Amino acid sequence: MVNIKENISLKPYHTFHINVRANYFAEYDTVEELKSLLTLPLLKDNRYLHIGGGSNLLFTKDFEGVIIHSRMKEINLLSEDDKSVLINVQSGMVWDDFVSYCVSKGWGGVENMSHIPGEVGASAVQNVGAYGVEAKDVIHSVQVLDVKTFDEHTFTNAECHYSYRKSIFKEALKGLYIITSVTFRLQKEPVFRLDYGNLISQTGENPTLATVREAVINIRRLKLPDPEEIGSAGSFFINPIVDEESYKVLKTEYSQMPSYPLQGGKIKLSAAWLIDHAGWHGKSIGGASVYPKQCLVIVNNNNATAGDVTALAEAIRKSVYEKYRVDITPEVNYI
Ligand code: EPU
Repeated sequence: MVNIKENISLKPYHTFHINVRANYFAEYDTVEELKSLLTLPLLKDNRYLHIGGGSNLLFTKDFEGVIIHSRMKEINLLSEDDKSVLINVQSGMVWDDFVSYCVSKGWGGVENMSHIPGEVGASAVQNVGAYGVEAKDVIHSVQVLDVKTFDEHTFTNAECHYSYRKSIFKEALKGLYIITSVTFRLQKEPVFRLDYGNLISQTGENPTLATVREAVINIRRLKLPDPEEIGSAGSFFINPIVDEESYKVLKTEYSQMPSYPLQGGKIKLSAAWLIDHAGWHGKSIGGASVYPKQCLVIVNNNNATAGDVTALAEAIRKSVYEKYRVDITPEVNYI
């Protein structure tokens, strides 16, 4: 049943846990309910925002309008053969519950993305990724509802135009569709990806899906704050991508600077390293701080206001640009 609450605090619904309010908060359990919700006068008269786990949002003020959230959480096996399974997962499923389910079933492909906060629907918008694997590597297709016509469509993986932390749903088609479910292709004989960072040193010679998941969880616990304990939105900035010429100039001056060559000749730099080496380690503005164990993360460690977070982010962005002439852009969406 569609459930609409009035004047609620958004503190539990976004991982920065900043105390802002929304006029209305609506949840639905089926695609039919979503359609009927979108036809209500309330939705026609007010602006609305569909959220997932709120792990990539920064509410800069009270939200004058309707926040919408999916409670659809089913997983359905569509087909299988000797090598792989095709499964459909509804948008409101917590991403890590989905990863845990796949690991328990012996289906490989998402184990490196253990413990990423958020929900399945948003993973297909954001192309979440960690430890050398991205959601796009396992997404087969994405099922959506057109918010104007209420038609249901399927986008193939290629039609989603995925690249590092990007998809067509964040760019050309932003705001036109709501993702209702995502279909994934997972492997019964997993191909392990242990080349990122020190993953292999943690899993040993004979990894299993469960040991890889455990290793990733251990690394994340050491480096990243638990959103239940300390508010944050994970990485605040996207790693910048530069051309070869700019890269060469920087590398001559900063020989220790990490870099990752991409297809097509561009180079991805580490925003965490740039921020760290621009002197931001552990620095604060008001109640917002740079997380000392991973400088890419801004945390709300002392009743931060959204203004504290944006001021800190802007000061970091400016100083990184002044030092390296590299522009870092927030991964977090300001609302
Ligand atoms: N580094 C520093 N200082 C720091 C942290 C890291 O110099 O404070 C250096 C590290 O030594 C390393 C490099 O920066 O050489 C990269 O660090 P890390 O491996 O932690 O990865 P990242 O590029 O900073 C990305 C994702 C994370 C994901 C990790 C692991 C983005 C924006 N972030 O971070 O994703 O967990 O790789 O795969 O791509 C998230 O999106 O919220 C997130 C946590």
